[in-house]
Order: sequence, then structure tokens, then C-alpha cells
Amino acid sequence: MKIRAATKADLGAIFRLEQAAFGSHGYPDFLFRQLLELWPHFLLVAENEGVLVGYVLGGMGEAKEQGWILSLAVDERQRGQGIGKALLQHLCRDLADSGCPSQRLTVHPDNSAAGLYRALGFQLETTESDYFGPDEPRQVLLRRG
Ligand SMILES: CC(C)(COP(=O)(O)OP(=O)(O)OC[C@H]1O[C@@H](n2cnc3c(N)ncnc32)[C@H](O)[C@@H]1OP(=O)(O)O)[C@@H](O)C(=O)NCCC(=O)NCCS
Repeated sequence: MKIRAATKADLGAIFRLEQAAFGSHGYPDFLFRQLLELWPHFLLVAENEGVLVGYVLGGMGEAKEQGWILSLAVDERQRGQGIGKALLQHLCRDLADSGCPSQRLTVHPDNSAAGLYRALGFQLETTESDYFGPDEPRQVLLRRG
């Protein structure tokens, strides 16, 4: 399994992973295209024998030292093999190397992915009951560099 920066040619496969993981609550395809322009080093893909099996999307906050993990998804058939963890570790390192030693992300309180985040040093900062609108609570997790 190889982790590398995404290219424009990967965007179709990234969007398919996004839709499979998040359905109608996923990011639209054109947003990935625009974020690739903004932060080409913070959209990473995991590739297994030429097949794209996961991606992670990051960005920079208003305070430049504040990095964000904006999305993470692994193909359902490939989960539980360390791909998500490897993607996340890679992006956190890239953000830190780019001057963002601490990173934030949001996660639904019921999403068991929170276990993965805690294992990598993310800690609960706040909980917002309507982060993405009514009945869309999210925990904001912070990892200090
Ligand atoms: C979250 C997700 C990316 C994890 O990817 P993955 O490749 O299966 O995760 P990994 O195999 O790297 O797991 C890493 C660690 O986290 C743990 N973990 C991962 N997903 C977990 C889950 N759903 N429940 C409990 N533990 C989980 C694993 O047990 C593993 O622990 P270990 O290092 O002690 O063995 C994947 O489940 C996914 O795509 N989910 C749907 C999209 C989603 O919810 N994304 C996160 C939005 S905030």
C-alpha cells in the first residue's frame, strides 16, 4: 500500500469513496477539485496495486499553525488493515512539516472512528449539538503538536 499526494486524475475515485462513506452528507465533487488547487499537498490517497482504497483531506486554519483534518474514508472492503491510521498519520506529519503543529477535526459522537483519533493523540475540545445544523452534533477534537 502506497500513500501519495492526489492528482486531478484521482478525483473521480476520491468522490466515489466519499459518496460510499458519507452518502448525501458528503462533499460535492467540485469541492475536491477546488481544494486540490488550494492545498495540493493535503489531499492524500492510499493506493493498493493501482486501486485507490482510501483518502484523507486536510487544510490550514485561519491561524496558520492550526491544521485541519476535513475528511477521511477507506473503501469498506479494505477497512481494519491500518489504511485509515496510515493516511491520518501521514497527513498530520505533512501538516506539522508545513507549519501546522496542532490539528483539529470533527467527528459525530456516535462514530466509532473516534477511537482511531484518540489513539493518535486527538483529545476532546468541545461538543456542538448543531455543528452542521439541527440534529447534526459533532465533537471537535484537537491534537497538540
Ligand atoms: C474511519 C475509517 C477511515 C477507518 O479506516 P480503517 O482503515 O478501517 O482504520 P484502521 O484499520 O487504520 O484502524 C486504525 C485503528 O483504529 C481502530 N478503528 C478504526 N475504525 C474503527 C471503528 N469504526 N471502530 C473502532 N475502532 C476503529 C482500529 O481498531 C485500529 O486500531 P489499532 O491501531 O489499535 O489496531 C473507516 O472506518 C471509514 O472509512 N469509515 C467511514 C467514513 C468515516 O466515518 N470517516 C471518519 C469521519 S470523522
